[in-house]
Amino acid sequence: MDVIIGITGASGVEYGVNLLETLSQMQNVHINIHLIISENAKKLLKFETKSTLDELNLTANNYYDNSDLGASIASGSKMIECMIIIPCSMSTAAKINTGITDNLITRAADVCIKEHRKLIIVPRETPLNSTHLKNLLELSQKGVLVLPAMPAFYHRPAELNDLITFITGKILDSMGITHELYARWSGDER
Ligand SMILES: Cc1cc2nc3c(=O)[nH]c(=O)nc-3n(C[C@H](O)[C@H](O)[C@H](O)COP(=O)(O)O)c2cc1C
Repeated sequence: MDVIIGITGASGVEYGVNLLETLSQMQNVHINIHLIISENAKKLLKFETKSTLDELNLTANNYYDNSDLGASIASGSKMIECMIIIPCSMSTAAKINTGITDNLITRAADVCIKEHRKLIIVPRETPLNSTHLKNLLELSQKGVLVLPAMPAFYHRPAELNDLITFITGKILDSMGITHELYARWSGDER
């Protein structure tokens, strides 16, 4: 399974790091990971996480510079199963919605939409203004799965990692990959 992970400069870069680590360690399915990290995400990676760029690059099978518009994944002829942008900044969401493909993340996302391939975006912003909401609605209408970084609490998270892996689990659900990253709600258990 060829999967593109794009990490952009919204707060919550740790969500992207966790997804990357989880997919790279999957036992039941082999995933060929193509990783792109925006320049703004690199700054947030330093600020918000203990992970380094080198560590992330080593985790992926292929790493691309976000300016590399000649990369294979910039073309629809490259077969990929799924792209996830996590976290997805409002700037990147706006560009994708309006067809601005001035970097590899937005171009690869645009290709996913034109080829009717699975594109999942994990927006992180609050509060949302009407431009944000309009872009997210229109992306959803174009077939993009909008999966906000909004962890639930019914699995009774005890630590920060439980909130992060909940989002990773929801993404794996959407990709049809079985996992036990969070305890599913099984009815009224009070
Ligand atoms: C510390 C910091 C936190 C930010 N957090 C967010 C955020 O949570 N959501 C968002 O949409 N933009 C956020 N931004 C703004 C984006 O980084 C900015 O819009 C940038 O142009 C996004 O570029 P990119 O999508 O190419 O990474 C933040 C910026 C900084 C410096």
